Amino acid sequence: MGKLERQVMMLKKLENRVKDHLSPARWEHTQGVIEASLLLVDCHGLSIEPQRVQIAALLHDCAKDLSLRDQLKRAADFGIVLTSSDLLCPKTLHGPVGAGIARHIYGIEDRDILRAIALHTTGAPGMTVLAKIIFLADYIEPGRRFPNVERLRAIAVRNLDEAVLSCMNHTLNHLLVQGVCIHQRMIAARNYLLATVLDPRLRKEG
Ligand SMILES: [Fe+2]
Ligand SMILES: [Fe+2]
Repeated sequence: MGKLERQVMMLKKLENRVKDHLSPARWEHTQGVIEASLLLVDCHGLSIEPQRVQIAALLHDCAKDLSLRDQLKRAADFGIVLTSSDLLCPKTLHGPVGAGIARHIYGIEDRDILRAIALHTTGAPGMTVLAKIIFLADYIEPGRRFPNVERLRAIAVRNLDEAVLSCMNHTLNHLLVQGVCIHQRMIAARNYLLATVLDPRLRKEG
């Protein structure tokens, strides 16, 4: 059996295992994230292996259907050190816990894949291209329907950094309207993008 066939079989097996642990709606969303992430890789001409993108997309929400109690237990089991932001923003917890499950249950060792899963809800300063792709694909996959999603899709096709910033702005607006806590990592990620990538004035002054 050739390398490609082995990879396809491994991916298929992984898909079947993950599917068993996700609700039908989550599975549909996951399929959308796989599709959107491969599309972004393609339209930006990125040299990332599609299989790594597919694995990250497939596993990004593998902890999302667990109760908060189970997520906290898994975090403790995997030795994940939780920050005050993690506890104040429990909806973000499935990122790091999902990375723990990907590593300890599904045997994924690729650090970039694990980091992309861990950061897919908040982002972080210095995100890899893979992390940006998964972050964006989660936001703009075909099943997402909210005002402005078309605008975000158009930006994502044009410029990954601008798109990550726009998605973060969208999330922050939403969180402010809801009056809930904002994860420090998202603030740091947005500041980093503005200072190092997107704002030439800040770059010159910094
Ligand atoms: Fe998620
Ligand atoms: Fe997701």
